[in-house]
Amino acid sequence: MRYLGYTEAGLGVFDQVGNKAISGSDPEFQRDGAAETTALGYRLLREYTLKLVMPRRGCPHADALSALANGKIDGTPLSESELVEMGILLMLAGFETTRNAVAGGILALLQHPAQMKSLRQDHKLIRRAVEEIVRWTNPAITMMRVATSDTVRVARANTEISGKQIKEGDRLVLWFASANRDESVFERADQFDVTRSPNPHLRFGFGPHTCLGGPLAKLELRITLEELLKRYNGVESTGKPERSQANFVGSLKRFPVRLTV
Ligand code: HEM
Repeated sequence: MRYLGYTEAGLGVFDQVGNKAISGSDPEFQRDGAAETTALGYRLLREYTLKLVMPRRGCPHADALSALANGKIDGTPLSESELVEMGILLMLAGFETTRNAVAGGILALLQHPAQMKSLRQDHKLIRRAVEEIVRWTNPAITMMRVATSDTVRVARANTEISGKQIKEGDRLVLWFASANRDESVFERADQFDVTRSPNPHLRFGFGPHTCLGGPLAKLELRITLEELLKRYNGVESTGKPERSQANFVGSLKRFPVRLTV
C-alpha cells in the first residue's frame, strides 16, 4: 500500500469501493443494478486516486504514484486520465487479486489437511505450493480481448483456435479459470496438489501484457505461508466461507479462521 502511495485509510476505501467495482453483480454490494454499481465503484476510485496523484506532480514522495505523476513518455507527462487509470490498475490489480489468492490458498490447504501437513513438515515445498495456489484459486477469472487482425503476423497464417477462425474485430473472452484446469495440459487437473511440477499455469496471462506484478504476488504468497506456518501451530476454519458473485475477479467475501500458537 505505502509503496504504491496509498495510505492505511486508502485500504478501507479500496475494500469498500473495490467491491463495488469488481463485484457489482453481488447483491450485497449492489446499488441500482450490476452495471450501475460497477460504474459507481470506478467513479469513486477515480475521484479518490485523483486526489492522491495530482499533489504528487512536482512534489514526489518515495512511492509508485509519484513515479507515475512525474514520469514522462517520449518527453510528455502522462495525462490526468492516464495517471488515474494507471493508479487504479496498479491498486486493483495488485490488491484484489493477491488478497484473494492468499485467502483462496489457505482455504484450499484447510480443505486438504494432508497437504497442509506436508508443507508444515517441509517448508521447501512452499515455492511449489505457491504456483499451485495461483493455478487453483481464481483471482482473475476472465479478461476480454478484441482481435486486431485476421492473421497471426509472425506465421502469416489465419488465426485459428481449436478449429474456430478468428476475424479482426472479434471480441474474445480469455477464460484463465478454464485454461488452468485444462486436462490436456495438467495431469489430474481437478486436483489440488502442492507438489505439482511442472505447473505451466496461465494465471498471470501471456505475451506482452503478462501481469506486471506476478513475481510480487508470488513473493507475498510465499512470505504469508512461511510466516503463517512458522507462527501458528493451528489454523482452522470457524465458519462457512462465502464467495462473492463476480465474473472478473473471484473473491472470498468472508472466511473466518482461528489461529492458535
Ligand atoms: C495472484 C495475483 C495476481 C494475478 C492472478 C494477476 C493476474 C493478472 C492477469 C491475468 C493479467 C492480464 C495479463 C494479460 O493481459 O495477458 C494481469 C495484468 C496486470 N497485473 Fe496482475 N495479477 C496479480 C497480481 C498483481 C500485482 C501484485 C500487481 C501490481 C502491484 C499486478 C499488476 C498488474 C498490471 C499493472 C497488469 C497490466 C499489465 C499490462 O497490461 O501490461 N498484478 N494480472
